[in-house]
Amino acid sequence: MSRNSLATLELIRQEVPVIAPSMLKCDYGNLQRDIQLLDDAGTRLYHLDVMDGHFVPNLSYGPMVIERMRECTDVTFDCHLMISNPEKYIGEYVKVGCDWLTIHIEAVPQPQDVLKQIRDAGCGAGIALNPGTPVSALAPAVGLCDVVLIMSVEPGFGGQKFQPAALEKVAQIRELFGPEVLISIDGGIGPDTIQAAAAAGVQLFVAGSSVFDQPCYESAISNMRSMAQSVMPSL
Ligand code: DX5
Ligand code: ZN
Repeated sequence: MSRNSLATLELIRQEVPVIAPSMLKCDYGNLQRDIQLLDDAGTRLYHLDVMDGHFVPNLSYGPMVIERMRECTDVTFDCHLMISNPEKYIGEYVKVGCDWLTIHIEAVPQPQDVLKQIRDAGCGAGIALNPGTPVSALAPAVGLCDVVLIMSVEPGFGGQKFQPAALEKVAQIRELFGPEVLISIDGGIGPDTIQAAAAAGVQLFVAGSSVFDQPCYESAISNMRSMAQSVMPSL
């Protein structure tokens, strides 16, 4: 593998707070143009939502589309796998150029082997949890992952309302996983919600509607980043 995906974890850590555009909400008819605009806007991390119509009630895209996205940019790809049996597909997503692979604890309650499989492939390993899942369910992932993704909506669709109860999990995750893990949040993040999340200690912010529904991606991203930066606690 030619990409140094593990190195991207450290690079992203230095860039915190990071806004990661969720490509679920992009203009698929103009994928190349949207990626160019986002790269020009200084995007450091793309959030790629993979849905299988089984683990979540929606279907999005898979390796073939990601492969074409990869031809358009060198920026880090965090692939959010909302799929059952992710262990069967890790190799394919690594091959098409994903740097981080985030699996769901609800899909793999004992995720040790899959997380090791991801790291052994040279990628960053992430674990995600749904709004109804307690942080204690993540205990088997401690020491085996680089990113924890808190869902602040039910996974499956963009444009849903932020669930503030998700923020109660941030301190619990920091305590369970220690200082190194990157904490990310996904769902309903925008100018009205990003500061509460940043103040709680979130470092990476997935943003779909709040970027793609705006006429200028660059100002939407830089505005949210400044808002997060101004309230972020120092670790
Ligand atoms: C939802 C996805 C999100 C979604 C975010 O299942 O995981 O990444 O696209 O979209 P917004 O920011 O519109 O809530
Ligand atoms: Zn997502």
